[in-house]
Amino acid sequence: MITRMTCPVEKKLWGGRFTGATDPIMEKFNASISYDRRMWKEDILGSQAYVKAIEKVGIVTGEEKDQIHKGLETIKEEWKTDKFSIKPGDEDIHTANERRLKELVGICGGKLHTGRSRNDQVGTDMRLWIVNAEASLQNILLAFVEVMLKRAKEEIDVLMPGYTHLQRAQPIRWSHWILSYAWMIQRDLKRLTEIRERASCLPLGSGALAGNPFGVDRIALAKELGLNEIFWNSLDAVSDRDFVVEFLFWASLLSTHLSRWAEDLILYCTKEFNFVSLSDAYSTGSSLMPQKKNADSLELIRGKAGRLFGNMAGFMMTVKGLPSTYNKDLQEDKEAMFDTFDTLSGILQVATGVLSTLKINRESMKAALSPDMLATDIAYYLVRKGIPFRDAHGLAGNCVALAEKKNCSLSELSVADLKTVNPLFEEDVQKLWHYENSVDQYSAQGGTSKKSVQEQIHILEKWLEDVKKH
Ligand code: ARG
Repeated sequence: MITRMTCPVEKKLWGGRFTGATDPIMEKFNASISYDRRMWKEDILGSQAYVKAIEKVGIVTGEEKDQIHKGLETIKEEWKTDKFSIKPGDEDIHTANERRLKELVGICGGKLHTGRSRNDQVGTDMRLWIVNAEASLQNILLAFVEVMLKRAKEEIDVLMPGYTHLQRAQPIRWSHWILSYAWMIQRDLKRLTEIRERASCLPLGSGALAGNPFGVDRIALAKELGLNEIFWNSLDAVSDRDFVVEFLFWASLLSTHLSRWAEDLILYCTKEFNFVSLSDAYSTGSSLMPQKKNADSLELIRGKAGRLFGNMAGFMMTVKGLPSTYNKDLQEDKEAMFDTFDTLSGILQVATGVLSTLKINRESMKAALSPDMLATDIAYYLVRKGIPFRDAHGLAGNCVALAEKKNCSLSELSVADLKTVNPLFEEDVQKLWHYENSVDQYSAQGGTSKKSVQEQIHILEKWLEDVKKH
């Protein structure tokens, strides 16, 4: 229980004009240090760059700059070694670091914040953080695509039913299924590069909202911090959270792809399908039914997509209707951003683990193919003999009806039977009943023939190589 005690006003960095004390419940409600401490390094980097900038315009002397820089180095070390102690009144990472700096370097520490506001500071810290975080997500995603490609290559000869409406439709290659998700991830990776580039923009030097009155060189500041560009409007700079919204949307779409992927695999590892079997490392048992092996890893991947969507929708509601520039509502950005990052890193690592360890059951996949799935092939056979597709489709339907009448499968119809439907059927119709021939007719780019799937692998591999080079 929180007891209502007053907190001394003079401890606050922003406390100058306040005479009353903060309600401790408000204190807790207002504080973000419990989660924004994660940006300690970025906060220090931002300050080290800023002190250089204000030295250039004469706000601090060279000596003071060095002192502040050294103090910040000490703070960095304290965070690194888990020795930084958070004190009451350390509302957020910015106030905590500044408080500590003053303890370490004395009066000149108070000069660091000249012309700066937590408004331009927090945006800068977050951008530095997310640019790195996005780079690490890119690496995890690339590893996932690599596993997809490896399996697609090794298991290129495995056939399975392809589905529409979750009904068996046409035979496809298992690799074709795997790669369908690799292409979604490729688009996600391309989107990631774009949003990362937009996030790489510097708000620092915009002050609370109106700009910086000491003429700091913001372009040099951006360069120093490794950001691509600067905001050209200070009002926009301090309140723009598009980079957070974009990240949350990006993660939400990516996790939607992975949720669908997980759903496919959940189905494929049921006894009814029995196409794949998850490794024990990614499944759990039932506390009641000893025979059960549950695909919890995949269910969690599917479930967490909902949570990521929630982070996005929640934060968009926060931003909607905010008046111009900084408002404290924006503090909500960080938990959404961190949670999305953590959740997504987990999803991706587990997904990579699941895919690299699952076993496929070629026999069950093959057994799930049935001659009725070749009905389209009959139509194509007739098309190749000169019959317009619409008529050929009808004739293939007649063959299906004939097989039903004779209580046999399509492949069991004799050429004589087929000739009763259309005289163009000949001995060569027998080649239709091989599933390998069926898949290999889809040889135009993007199809499920071996040649087309190899082409896909080649294109993805080349792209992957390129991305890794940059
Ligand atoms: N902790 C705050 C946030 O995360 C920092 C900015 C506070 N600015 C202010 N004017 N109160 O948004």
